[in-house]
Amino acid sequence: MENTKKIIFASDHAGLNLKRVLMDYFRPNYEIIDVGTKETSSCDYPIYAKNLCIKVLELEALGILICGTGIGMSIAANRYKGIRAALCLNEYMAEKARQHNNANVLCLGERVVGVDLAKSIAQTFLTTPFEGERHLRRIELIENL
Ligand code: RB5
Repeated sequence: MENTKKIIFASDHAGLNLKRVLMDYFRPNYEIIDVGTKETSSCDYPIYAKNLCIKVLELEALGILICGTGIGMSIAANRYKGIRAALCLNEYMAEKARQHNNANVLCLGERVVGVDLAKSIAQTFLTTPFEGERHLRRIELIENL
């Protein structure tokens, strides 16, 4: 069971604006942990994906990774054993990512989704529980790949 009161955030330069908006949006109700980047200068997203994955695993919290498309972050994050990162473009995907895949990292693309949609996707992701049962067996199969 995740620590649902903490959210770990990370982005590269291309996701920095949306990350700031989402951190402000969720700050009243969650403890926010930002593992970078904090600069607008161009940087390499795998470094921040790594920072976030380490924290998510350590704190058993949910994480949100943002880059330009969300694709690079999701590819990088899914290299980590125990990380299930889901790139979501709408609330339905966010809901199923939690219910069926027990995703612990949400990936967003700042250049792909608008601010209001991103807030709604993240809200859905953070508040939807894992359904367990048959889905647990499938996740265990993934862990053993
Ligand atoms: C940066 O230009 C961009 O490539 C990066 O943010 C991300 O979209 C990669 O997948």
